[in-house]
Amino acid sequence: MTDNKMKVTMTVNGRERSADAEPRTLLVHFLREQLGLTGTHIGCDTTQCGNCTVLVDGQAVKSCTTLAVQADGSEITTVEGLGTADNLHPIQQGFWEEHGLQCGYCTSGVMMDMVGLLKENPNPTEEEIRQGLEGVICRCTGYQFIVKAVQRAVEIIKESGQPISEKQVAGEVRS
Ligand code: FES
Ligand code: FES
Repeated sequence: MTDNKMKVTMTVNGRERSADAEPRTLLVHFLREQLGLTGTHIGCDTTQCGNCTVLVDGQAVKSCTTLAVQADGSEITTVEGLGTADNLHPIQQGFWEEHGLQCGYCTSGVMMDMVGLLKENPNPTEEEIRQGLEGVICRCTGYQFIVKAVQRAVEIIKESGQPISEKQVAGEVRS
């Protein structure tokens, strides 16, 4: 199938990236194997765990259910685009402060899913956070500390005094 490859170009974490992909290549494999962005995890083969969630044009999407060619020309944000160790994104800061993880395998997908939620609903209730988490499976935490982490992220964003915007959820609001 090597002669079946086509060039796919997308803006990933603010940088234009291009690589070859077969028509059947999943976005998650393209990100991990072609672009080396291994922060996006694969946690199932049944489209259920959400551990592979990334933002595609601002929407939280399971990257194992999207073909790389479908994302051609799109803006992608992966966990690597959220923040740095010295300058955490509010969702990362929330997880840090509230111990929102155990093994961490689900964490990148959970955070991307919650960034997608906060873009649509900057002030979610606990119930709304829990509903938003229905698309992602965490096999360790029991979710309570994840919910607290998201609530802390909401506080951090509020404390910043800035309205939610695409740029802020892409990492420009800091505590
Ligand atoms: S790896 Fe995508 S939903 Fe599980
Ligand atoms: S922290 Fe282990 S799967 Fe969620």
